Amino acid sequence: MGRGAYEHNYTQLNLPELTRAGVDAAPVEIALPPALAGSGPITAEIYCADNLALLEAAAGRWSGRFQLLYLDPPFGSGKVYAARVAGERGRQAQAVDAYRDDQGFDAYLAWLAARLAAARDLLTESGSLYVHLDWHAVHYVKVELDRIFGRDRFLNEIIWCYHGPSPIRTAFKRKHDNILVYTRSKRYFFDADAVRVPYDASTVKTFASSSKAGFGKTPDLERGKVPEDWWYFPVVARVHSERVGYDTQKPEALLERIVKASSRPADLVGDLFAGSGTTGVVAARLGRNSVLVDRNPVAIEKSLLRLARLNPAPAVRMWRYIDQQSRSDQ
Ligand SMILES: C[S@@+](CC[C@H](N)C(=O)[O-])C[C@H]1O[C@@H](n2cnc3c(N)ncnc32)[C@H](O)[C@@H]1O
Repeated sequence: MGRGAYEHNYTQLNLPELTRAGVDAAPVEIALPPALAGSGPITAEIYCADNLALLEAAAGRWSGRFQLLYLDPPFGSGKVYAARVAGERGRQAQAVDAYRDDQGFDAYLAWLAARLAAARDLLTESGSLYVHLDWHAVHYVKVELDRIFGRDRFLNEIIWCYHGPSPIRTAFKRKHDNILVYTRSKRYFFDADAVRVPYDASTVKTFASSSKAGFGKTPDLERGKVPEDWWYFPVVARVHSERVGYDTQKPEALLERIVKASSRPADLVGDLFAGSGTTGVVAARLGRNSVLVDRNPVAIEKSLLRLARLNPAPAVRMWRYIDQQSRSDQ
């Protein structure tokens, strides 16, 4: 099946307010047509903005309010990423620039460190931060997060494994991402029961044959187990129903486990590098409120469309904030 089969997901909104020229003194709310606004009771706030500039502008309002932050920033890969939007008059989807990840590694690390430090202050006392990276920068960012949170606030390094084609012939195929998890305090929230999975068939078989198989420890086979810190979920390229034409879009199953483990219904979940809005979609489906930020108008449009397709759709409000620095970077 060719790419065209999924183009119903690549609809383009072209909301002119998102790309209007000029600089904003403060975040400006953009009225949404009723078909995109949803009606709650769950809410999703969407901001088209540079996340650091927005956090500085919204500093007091969000401090200490987020139970969970999932950040999926550029990885320091040196590449430029694309999105696909609908072609004119029903033609094939066309690629447009989505975001650049080519600022140079040292500049990248400093850029990300400033955002991670600002993110910490947004968390509730029992809140958690998940930072999604890969081999390019994870070791450097681990050291930075130890500095920001304290080494004793490190909770997990989740290894997300997947399959996929790769041209590499001179090393093993690089097919995992790294998700670093830190908690704001020792009294963090973690709902192990919400994410239990069945034991492997081989474990069930072993204990069925001998109750002594576990050196005196018998697992509760009925209840299932808390997942290990390595997870397998297929990449979005293989989950055709989820594809919305945004490079680096993450699978909903991955976010579901994170949101269920580290937040409760009605909590506030944030994503400061929201891309196509996966975190907001999963949060709404699981009854959590969300704040999504992305500087790319195409990402904002895709997020809006995905949220509007949910049933029930959350009550969505949208703002743009183009600060002086972001305008001169364009
Ligand atoms: C890896 S993608 C996120 C993908 C997302 N998790 C998804 O499932 O679609 C990173 C996103 O960060 C955004 N971004 C990069 N720099 C940003 C900044 N300074 N402020 C806000 N968003 C930014 C990019 O536009 C891009 O959409």
